[in-house]
Amino acid sequence: MKKFGLIGYPLTHSFSEKYFTEKFKKEGLEEEFSYEAFPMPNLSELPELIKRNPDLCGLNVTVPHKIGVMYYLDKIDPAAKEIDAVNCIKIVNSHPVEAFFSGELSSLQVRLEGYNTDAYGFEMSLKPLLKNHHPKALILGAGGAARAVAYVLNKLGISFKSVSRRSIKKQLSYEQITPDMIKERLLIINTTPVGTYPNITQAPEIPYDALTSKHILYDLVYNPEETEFLKRGREHGAITKNGLEMLHIQAEKAWEIWNS
Ligand SMILES: NC(=O)c1ccc[n+]([C@@H]2O[C@H](COP(=O)([O-])OP(=O)(O)OC[C@H]3O[C@@H](n4cnc5c(N)ncnc54)[C@H](OP(=O)(O)O)[C@@H]3O)[C@@H](O)[C@H]2O)c1
Repeated sequence: MKKFGLIGYPLTHSFSEKYFTEKFKKEGLEEEFSYEAFPMPNLSELPELIKRNPDLCGLNVTVPHKIGVMYYLDKIDPAAKEIDAVNCIKIVNSHPVEAFFSGELSSLQVRLEGYNTDAYGFEMSLKPLLKNHHPKALILGAGGAARAVAYVLNKLGISFKSVSRRSIKKQLSYEQITPDMIKERLLIINTTPVGTYPNITQAPEIPYDALTSKHILYDLVYNPEETEFLKRGREHGAITKNGLEMLHIQAEKAWEIWNS
């Protein structure tokens, strides 16, 4: 049996575990594959986890380990390197030729490859919504997911400004966002957890009255299905999208990487 899993901490409601367990059931793959959540407060436990689970072929990586995990990898995909975050690991067992001939399987070698499937999921789910009047964007938040979003916008030639509560580098503060800025930037992406269940009445502090029907409001949050941010966008006629499709696409991309 091939095993897959998730590392992060804490792992309370794991989307990935539910998604892959249901996928294996639905596709009749339960005999061949399994998926398990491995709560890991400290990344130094990773080598031991891999040693204890020789049938482990791939891992999803979530908060707070997307950056730190790169230290443990043998190869990092160029996109993940540029984003500076890994959320998918492929575990490759390679048997050196000598070990094969001598039958010494104890010298089995394990190679860890890192990828970022968040960026792919975001790109594929955003692209169908884009029109010529979306050359400028605003990214709300400056964490790991914001870096994957920024990577995709750069790739698509969309210029953007980032908004953060901390005044670092060239980022704007929420107080600096004017109605004119909103009118100029017709793509607004929330990469903060603001509005996530149970805090469903909260929304990022931007001048919502400046929104129009030409705007796209994209929220990486998917619980609730319509966040307060998206609701306010919809009320001004904007096109809205939550993070659920991105989540599904990134999971399927991980599956493709593990099986390639
Ligand atoms: N749909 C998907 O597939 C998908 C994929 C990845 C992540 N996500 C979601 O995206 C969100 C961010 O994930 P992440 O990994 O980037 O987390 P993260 O690294 O912790 O970054 C979140 C950022 O949000 C900002 N933030 C946090 N609390 C805030 C508040 N109360 N008010 C305003 N800003 C706040 C912070 O930026 P500043 O301190 O700079 O303001 C922080 O850097 C999470 O809700 C996660 O579930 C969804």
